[in-house]
This record gives sequence, C-alpha cells and structure tokens, in this order.
Amino acid sequence: MPGTLLIVRIGPYEFGSHLFLSPLAGYTNLPFRLVVREIGGLDWTTTDLVNARSLIEQNPRALQMIRTCPAEKLLAVQLFGAVPEEMRDAAQAVEAAGIAAVDINMGCPVKKVTGIGGGSAMMTELDKTAKLVRGMVAAVKIPITAKMRLGWDENNLTAPDLARVLEDAGVAAIFVHGRTRAQGFGGTVNLAGIRAVVAAVKTIPVIGNGDVTTPEAAKHMFEETGCAGVSIGRGAFYNPWIFRDTQHFLKTGELRPEAGYAERATVMRRHLDLMIGFYGEDFGCRLFRKPAAWYAKRFGPAKEFKKGVTQFRTRAEFEALLAGYEKWRTPFLDGHGELLPKFRPDPMVASFMLDPHDPAAKRRDSIPVPKGPVDVW
Ligand SMILES: Cc1cc2nc3c(=O)[nH]c(=O)nc-3n(C[C@H](O)[C@H](O)[C@H](O)COP(=O)(O)O)c2cc1C
Repeated sequence: MPGTLLIVRIGPYEFGSHLFLSPLAGYTNLPFRLVVREIGGLDWTTTDLVNARSLIEQNPRALQMIRTCPAEKLLAVQLFGAVPEEMRDAAQAVEAAGIAAVDINMGCPVKKVTGIGGGSAMMTELDKTAKLVRGMVAAVKIPITAKMRLGWDENNLTAPDLARVLEDAGVAAIFVHGRTRAQGFGGTVNLAGIRAVVAAVKTIPVIGNGDVTTPEAAKHMFEETGCAGVSIGRGAFYNPWIFRDTQHFLKTGELRPEAGYAERATVMRRHLDLMIGFYGEDFGCRLFRKPAAWYAKRFGPAKEFKKGVTQFRTRAEFEALLAGYEKWRTPFLDGHGELLPKFRPDPMVASFMLDPHDPAAKRRDSIPVPKGPVDVW
C-alpha cells in the first residue's frame, strides 16, 4: 500500500495525494484540471504535451496551453522535442512563467512526435536522452520529471535502464504507463513492468499509470508494483470524482457512495463556466459537448438533455436543457432528491460510464485512441 498517509515528494515539493492526473492531449485543459482539483484528492497535474519549439517561439496556442492560475499551484508543463537546446530553452520559459515543474514526454507513440526523435523514440537512445535531460536539469531550478512507457516494444523494455539513467541525470520523478510503444493502447497494462521500474531507481518516486478507472484498481496497482503514486487519465474524464473517492478508499478502505445529482449538476455547471471563461462562450460550449454527455451518463433517462448537449451553443441554451431535465425528473424523486431506484442508471456503468446495452456507446462515449498498427499512427 502507498504508505497511506506518507507525504509524496517531487523535488522541493511535498504534498498529500498519491494520485496524479495523466496528460491527455485535447482534454487536460485548465478548466478540467481545476474541476478535478476542486472536487478533491489531487495535488499535482500536468498539461497536455507542448511542442518545445512552439513554446520558445511564443506560439499563441503553446502559450494558451501553459496558462495556469494560482489555484493550480503544483502544475507540470509537459514538453516534447528532441533538440537539446530547444528543450533547455523551453524548460527555462516554463520556469520563467512561474510553473512548478517540467515533465518530458518520452512515451508518445505517434509518428509526428517519434519521427523527430521525441516521445517514445527517446527510450531507444539512453545516452542521448540522458545528455538532453542533464542540459535541462542544469538550466533550471524547478524539478524535471519524465513520463515514459515500458519501452519501444516487448523486445526492448528499456524503462528500468532509462529510469536509472534519468535518476542519475537529476530527474525528480518518473511516470510510467505500463505498455510499450508497440502496444499503443491495446492489450493490458503490465504491472510487473512498472514494478521493474520501481525497483530500478534509488530514491525518486515512480508513479504507475494505465487503465485505472476505479479506487480498487488504483489500490491494486500500488500493491502489485510498489509505486509511490498512481496516475489516472481516461478514468478521470469518465468520472471526475475518481481522485476524491480513491483517496478516501486508500485511507479508510471504504468506497464512498457516488456523488448525488445536486453535486453533479453543480460540478457540471462549474466546468462549463470555466470552459467559457477560458475559451469564450462559443468555443467553450462546443468543447463542452463531450464532457456534458459524460456527466449526463449518470442522469438516468435524460434523452432530451443528452441529445441537446451534443449541439448547444450558449450558456443559456445549456441552462434551458438542464431546466427541462430537472422538470422531467421532479415527479420521480426520493426524499433525498435522487431518482427513484427504477430510474437510476446501472451502477455497473458507473466506473466506465459506458452503456453495456448500447453497442455503439463505446465508440461514441469513450475517449478515442489511435487505432490500427502503431507504426502508421
Ligand atoms: C487521447 C489521449 C491523449 C493523450 N495525450 C498524452 C499527452 O499529451 N502526453 C502524455 O504523456 N500522454 C498522453 N496520453 C497517454 C496518457 O497520459 C496515459 O498514459 C494513457 O492514456 C494511459 O492511462 P489511462 O488508462 O489512465 O488513460 C494520451 C492518451 C490519450 C488516450
């Protein structure tokens, strides 16, 4: 078990939660990161991957990706790139922006990233990678962390060696997704592979990652790997309460009851407000259509609302949809403001939020990952 109440340390920072939000390009924007933090159970977050060169060139999109606010004290900006000078200068730009840490992407399997020697290609040339990392560590005071996979493919499981080399180079923590690049997002997460990385380092924390969507699965990863932390990506989108609930489970052994409707509606509205504040009303609403559909999964029969949120364009339209749903549900409530049991969604759907009776649901509701042979991604 994760020394349940032990403090986690990354570089100079000490904090209480052993749970981390994994970067998911296109999803882990500032509004979402704030929403999960506000729910609780999460201290450390990471941005989507940012191209080092774009950041140095002050590309507006790169600058938007590193935007943060005081509530997000412990944030790492994840950089990708393979040119040592660019990675060094980008790390300095992150530090100058007042951000807590830099994470280096060494796991991305997509060709656009590996083709320039970044992402999981960095796992194939240990000396070159260590040299690049040393240059970054020497250039800034903030901690540098690395996020990797288990290796390029099953014949090249370089993660333990790389982790050792990176620890010597001054990296402050390792995040490891328990799959190889060749596996993409298929197959299962290899917990023994994560355990080998934990065993390879001397003192820095290793944070395990992959397929955790329930408090029990997080506990299992801690127990099977000895990792210092567990990082959750897709599971946080299907259930933004997962950090709070998992933290509670790790401390007490109790599974909390699901958040009730009132809390879900409050969090959903807050999420939309943050999206509108960050992206403006039109783009913010459009981007929120997908998360809104995930929130609605726990609303029971909410056909009109679910259909409406796939096309709404303004805050007012959203409120009208929600008001319509609330009016519909009023006659079917128990004394606590929850739907009567016969209208409640199947609790089995809760963890993954996919409807097992709807074969199209997985495609429609899950976060799309690249498909087909990884070499053509
Ligand atoms: C849509 C999508 C985008 C991702 N973007 C990034 C990224 O920008 N940087 C990164 O290091 N990993 C990225 N990942 C990998 C995740 O951080 C994580 O390692 C992987 O999804 C496994 O964890 P999970 O099962 O908890 O989602 C991405 C994964 C997905 C599905």
